[in-house]
Amino acid sequence: MLLGRFVPILFGTFIGMVLLSLASCGANQDANSNSEESEFVDSVLTSLTIKDKVGEMTQLTLGTIMVGSPYDLKEPQQLDTAKVRRVLLDYRVGSILNCGNHEHTPEVWHTFISGIQAAAASKLSGVPVLYGIDAIHGATYTAGAVLGPQQIGLAATWDTELVRKGAQNTAREVAASGIPWNFSPVVDLGRDPRWPRFWETFGEDPFLASKMGVAMVRGFQEGPSPIAATLKHFLGYGMTLSGKDRTPAWIPERQLREYFVPSFQACVDAGAMSIMVNSGEMNGIPVHSNKSILTDLLRGDMGFEGVVVTDWEDVKYLVTRHRIAHDYKEAARMAIEAGIDMAMVPIDLEFSDALLELVEEGSVTEERLDVSVRRILTMKYRLGLFENGGFPPSLDTYPAKESLEEAAARAALESITLLKNERQNAVAANQTILPIGGDGINWDGKVFVTGPTAHSLNALNGGWTGTWQGMDPKYNTPGRPTLVEAMESRFGSSSIVREDLDMEFTPDDIDRVVKSIRRTRPDCVVLGLGEMPYTEIVGNIDDISLFSNQQDLVRAVHATGTPIVAVFIEGRPRSFADVEPLMDAIVMAYLPGDYGADAIAQVLDGSFNPSGRLPFTWPRFASSHMTYDHKYTEQIGTKFGSDAFNPQFRFGDGMSYSNVMYSDLQSVQADYGMNDVMEFTITLTNTSRRNVTEVVHLFSQDSVATITPSVDRLRAFQRIDLDPMETKEVRFELAVQELAFVNRDLDYVVEPGSFGIRVKDQVIGIHVHSN
Ligand code: BGC
Repeated sequence: MLLGRFVPILFGTFIGMVLLSLASCGANQDANSNSEESEFVDSVLTSLTIKDKVGEMTQLTLGTIMVGSPYDLKEPQQLDTAKVRRVLLDYRVGSILNCGNHEHTPEVWHTFISGIQAAAASKLSGVPVLYGIDAIHGATYTAGAVLGPQQIGLAATWDTELVRKGAQNTAREVAASGIPWNFSPVVDLGRDPRWPRFWETFGEDPFLASKMGVAMVRGFQEGPSPIAATLKHFLGYGMTLSGKDRTPAWIPERQLREYFVPSFQACVDAGAMSIMVNSGEMNGIPVHSNKSILTDLLRGDMGFEGVVVTDWEDVKYLVTRHRIAHDYKEAARMAIEAGIDMAMVPIDLEFSDALLELVEEGSVTEERLDVSVRRILTMKYRLGLFENGGFPPSLDTYPAKESLEEAAARAALESITLLKNERQNAVAANQTILPIGGDGINWDGKVFVTGPTAHSLNALNGGWTGTWQGMDPKYNTPGRPTLVEAMESRFGSSSIVREDLDMEFTPDDIDRVVKSIRRTRPDCVVLGLGEMPYTEIVGNIDDISLFSNQQDLVRAVHATGTPIVAVFIEGRPRSFADVEPLMDAIVMAYLPGDYGADAIAQVLDGSFNPSGRLPFTWPRFASSHMTYDHKYTEQIGTKFGSDAFNPQFRFGDGMSYSNVMYSDLQSVQADYGMNDVMEFTITLTNTSRRNVTEVVHLFSQDSVATITPSVDRLRAFQRIDLDPMETKEVRFELAVQELAFVNRDLDYVVEPGSFGIRVKDQVIGIHVHSN
């Protein structure tokens, strides 16, 4: 690594020595570069005062150094020189985050970042600032950036390579904006759809979340313009008892290790540079104060060596919300003892003052600061900040938008999940409602498009888009179509009739829609249902059911006798069992982003054969939600049959316009040893005249175990392309060790015995013997 701008400030001679020794390296290059890194970091560390170190461990929001107050900044926004001096020079704050309440153009970002880094370079230590942002589905705070699907939609693609590519593109735009650190991905699980951050996850399954999380970490961190990934939010955040954000979770250690640790562990193993802490409490202990989670588990068992950053204001919340500390200083001591490296304070200097006092009075040692500061400096070093002073690259190198759009648009297409597609009528036996107009040749019909999400780009993008809540249309990407606009361009505007509705539409609005349908006599009605954007506490709900006005709309449209194509644009599955039978086709679009409307339209007109599959279980009833990997006892119904697991749609559900038959599931051996790799084959046949991509899932079923087994556990998946009428044998390899679970002693074990292996409706038995 060549250290340019930073070198003359402090370390010219030292770096010269290191570079000389590097020149002679060969096979030992890795070892040498590691020692170059640690020597460099140590030399910076030794040069820092306690105040510098406290500053390195402090992160403030951009609003604290801008003209105005953090939540009410003067527009157009600009850095406030006096505040910059106080925060970055007097307090030596080492990290800044966020965007000052809304997105900015790359030019504005460059002005901010350059101003910040110039100030940082003029402090005695010269250590550059580490800037962090939430770029969770594209560079969400850079105006005009390419915005793909949110994570829940990415999970529905089951396409890890595409997810990696999308993250790589995000990194290119974020890095080009001058920002090296991304607060993404969320690798917590989405097992409770009431939780308002469900859509920020990869869904309910630990295996899928691990694969997707690793793909995203690699995409961010492995170039060509690497930025640091942050695994969020460690640990157990999404599994609150109430389903509401930042409320208590009660998760037994066994369940924690079997379900919630694996996705984090996989991403730690993939080299994720940072982790953000869960804002909530688990088993009565706020995670920000929990040493056994943040140190013993994370550092000890999981081997994480990167930076642990708190979530927003969470040191203060130990006092004001959780009430386990009497004052800020006590809270800061608790968080430091638990193992945090950096506090996202983020709107005042209370943390810095408190930590300095704690060190001065001897409650926190300087050695403890060194542990965290070494990690922070290492991260800064690995991100190249000491090389370029953290200054943004030239705007001339900003990636061309066109080069990034393909992956986002493709991900939107692959995410769209077709869940129901009825026959048009008893006479046209083979003609389903979708694709609209059948084969599309010379179709001169009419489509009526309405519903509250059909004409909103915000609905397609979800939270953290342009602004935190993603609700302000002012920050929508110019030129990207809403669903109704995409329908107009795919079908021709003369084929589309539209009636727009906002979220709070009334019975009068429904009458207006019905009258318009009766007057225009369309062939079908496309209903854009679902939710407007939200995240965190703002998105808490009291009822998972689909809004009652949307259900009334479905009933009223059905009464006109026109077939209904329901398109759900939403971040969590809302239950809608009463009106489901009134829908002829159902499409789940999740939050597909700026390219989502066109993706939906391509599925509706048949130019794309849908391949998305649900990454979660869709509850049929508001009070009855179970994940696919529930226990046998949870299937027992009131009449003692096994019918209690009765979701609206199952994990992995999704249809295409083709027919694919599964046959002949086989295991190469019937009996395997503990260290064997099992091999299974299954035959897929596309009996239709369309190309299709089939997502094939392989589940295991442990027959008897010392911890009650789940009825199914996902162990592998593959996306298989099939030509018209093609037959393919699909092969799975699976290590026996991947059947492991956490036993009563908290060990990860495979117990010998019988297992079922299930692919779709095919199940075979195998045996595992001990050796
Ligand atoms: C959220 C985090 C986010 C952070 C910084 C918090 O409120 O919980 O997910 O990364 O803010 O914006």
